[in-house]
Amino acid sequence: MRLSKLLWSLTAVASIFSGRVSAQSSSEILELLEGIVDCATCQAALIPLQTLAHLGNDVFSDTFIGVCDLSGLEDADVCSGLFTLIGPIIAHDLREIDATSLTGSRLCDALFGFCASKTPQAFTVPLPTPAGPISPPSTPAVRNTPFTVVHISDVHIDRDYTVGSEANCTKNICCRNYADEAGEPIIDPAQPFGSPLCDAPVSLADSMLEAVAAFEAQFVIFTGDVQEGDICEVTTDLEDFNAELLSKITIPIFPAIGNHDSSPVNSFPRNTTDTTLDVQWVFDTQSAGWEQWIGSAASTQVDDISGSYAVSVPNTNLTILSLNTMYWYRQNLWLYDSDTFQPDPNGILSFMVEQLQAAEDAGRLVWILGHIPLGKPDIIEDQSNYYDQILQRYKDTIVGQFFGHSHKDQFEIAYSDYSDQTAANAVGVGLICPALTPTSGNPAFKVYDVDPDTFGIMNIRVIFGLLFDHMYYLQRIFTDPTFQTDPTWTVYYDARETYGTLVGLPADSELTPAFWHNLTEVFAANETAFQMFNTFLSRGGNVVACDDTDNCRNTTICDMRAFRSQNNCDLDEGLFNLRRRSADMSQRQESAECEGLGMRELLAEIQSKSRSKPAK
Ligand SMILES: *[C@@H]1O[C@H](CO)[C@@H](O)[C@H](O)[C@H]1NC(C)=O
Ligand SMILES: *[C@@H]1O[C@H](CO)[C@@H](O)[C@H](O)[C@H]1NC(C)=O
Ligand SMILES: *[C@@H]1O[C@H](CO)[C@@H](O)[C@H](O)[C@H]1NC(C)=O
Ligand SMILES: *[C@@H]1O[C@H](CO)[C@@H](O)[C@H](O)[C@H]1NC(C)=O
Ligand SMILES: *[C@@H]1O[C@H](CO)[C@@H](O)[C@H](O)[C@H]1NC(C)=O
Ligand SMILES: *[C@@H]1O[C@H](CO)[C@@H](O)[C@H](O)[C@H]1NC(C)=O
Repeated sequence: MRLSKLLWSLTAVASIFSGRVSAQSSSEILELLEGIVDCATCQAALIPLQTLAHLGNDVFSDTFIGVCDLSGLEDADVCSGLFTLIGPIIAHDLREIDATSLTGSRLCDALFGFCASKTPQAFTVPLPTPAGPISPPSTPAVRNTPFTVVHISDVHIDRDYTVGSEANCTKNICCRNYADEAGEPIIDPAQPFGSPLCDAPVSLADSMLEAVAAFEAQFVIFTGDVQEGDICEVTTDLEDFNAELLSKITIPIFPAIGNHDSSPVNSFPRNTTDTTLDVQWVFDTQSAGWEQWIGSAASTQVDDISGSYAVSVPNTNLTILSLNTMYWYRQNLWLYDSDTFQPDPNGILSFMVEQLQAAEDAGRLVWILGHIPLGKPDIIEDQSNYYDQILQRYKDTIVGQFFGHSHKDQFEIAYSDYSDQTAANAVGVGLICPALTPTSGNPAFKVYDVDPDTFGIMNIRVIFGLLFDHMYYLQRIFTDPTFQTDPTWTVYYDARETYGTLVGLPADSELTPAFWHNLTEVFAANETAFQMFNTFLSRGGNVVACDDTDNCRNTTICDMRAFRSQNNCDLDEGLFNLRRRSADMSQRQESAECEGLGMRELLAEIQSKSRSKPAK
């Protein structure tokens, strides 16, 4: 039966040879997509899709726009916007690869959620020297006064945000005036300082940056994602935010590139790919925009090393190493255009090794900044594993790792032995900053107290704006509407006070990887403490229930103990899982923002919708 469906689809594709894309051909492709039920059927379906891709980018995109329209799941402008931009990348991939290859299976995973694997391809990262005995700077008998660093992330500013427009709309992104919605009654009007269903208005970003400036920090780190959750980015979005940072903040800012910082989002071709759609313009723009903070040598690196750079923090022994994590990102569809194993696209890992070796040689300590945390399922298991090899080698030099992307207040622990996850084996921790955009919780940022000798973290305060709580989702009521007239930013919680007491952290100790491991032990043993963490994830707004009924607590704790994506417990169960996720509005929003456009979810919904029709 599957075979006949496949043959039928091949006939359908052949019929497209006649020239114009017809509703007929789109419906045949829809049938083809319906036939995808597991990894094998997915890889088989790639073959007729390859035939379609060989007819050209326009035919390919137009056919998928037709499929999207037929599904009735998205407005026409959304379908057309999505596949006009993404279609050519998918078509390019399909033309370059063998559908039955590992790359083919990974394309299936990225597009449809099938063929997921947690087995990295074996590769030993070349390291210049074996680990030598290095002596980390000793902590003085009495610690010197900590200095302050502010961490902001995922601002997702929507420059077309329009106060009073519909916040709960049917587009990728709401709180905008849309031509095809003109005249419709507004049910949920966009608020002056942000709405939980929309990305951030400029007013909200400005308000946060003023709050950031009020902390007397040494510097600010920004882990990426400038633009809103739509699919197109223009150079001016990046430039506008650089200008806003400059106008509000007078201290150095060390940024990193996010997956939303290109156009279409997530689109970062490798430098081995021959394409006119390269994103050097992103690196050029940020090289120029960041130079005032990172200096000319690092800004040249941003240009030459695809957005990554290393810089010394003035008057310290601390080096900031900012890495573009997008060549490791599962939803960067450009990564599926070759069957040749490319362990280190664009040389980001070798740049990392080179900089860490230089820091070690000079007796300097390093903080790594990146957008996507390495343990998330959306980092490809290969590069996550290779990064971890580097971390194990330079664990005494890397004293901090900072990420964003998930929009949640999280952490991930690295172990010297992942099969023996103990406090003693914890060798690193990635601290993940919550987002400014209110779509996955109240807008927030983190303030670190940093030991000036070890550059270890003494404390974390999460600062938030109380935009909404669960009442918003129940009754569309803003519990504390004052934020919309006079936004204030206050301490949401203090990690040392809240978590330190639970773990029994001595007064003088840093929040080490071992501390974070012990905190996971507390969460495993103390349901109340875990629920507090779960509420903190989204800063009390849009809290998604997580208890033991579906093993959610175990999974969450497992994920905290996974700095390599091969170790997380987010088993990808294909479309069933995607559908389950997309059923929950809040989850859907997170995946749409983080995994890109919601295309994967859209394809999944198209399939589920058609499959739920009565059998013929
Ligand atoms: C958005 O609108 C839909 C359809 O009217 C409704 O079902 C849904 O509950 C609304 N969502 C929120 C968060 O208000
Ligand atoms: C850097 O480290 C060296 C050796 O530990 C120390 O002597 C020096 O004072 C440090 N420099 C700064 C600026 O802290
Ligand atoms: C791609 O980038 C790597 C690392 O920077 C570099 O070694 C290589 O020469 C580049 N390849 C091309 C084709 O530009
Ligand atoms: C973590 O827990 C272990 C075992 O209880 C303990 O020996 C260790 O001191 C703790 N470490 C930290 C940093 O809290
Ligand atoms: C569990 O955690 C809560 C805080 O969330 C704390 O008040 C309580 O004392 C903890 N229970 C135990 C047994 O440690
Ligand atoms: C969670 O994991 C622990 C072991 O880490 C196990 O003892 C427990 O049964 C698990 N809970 C559930 C609900 O599966």
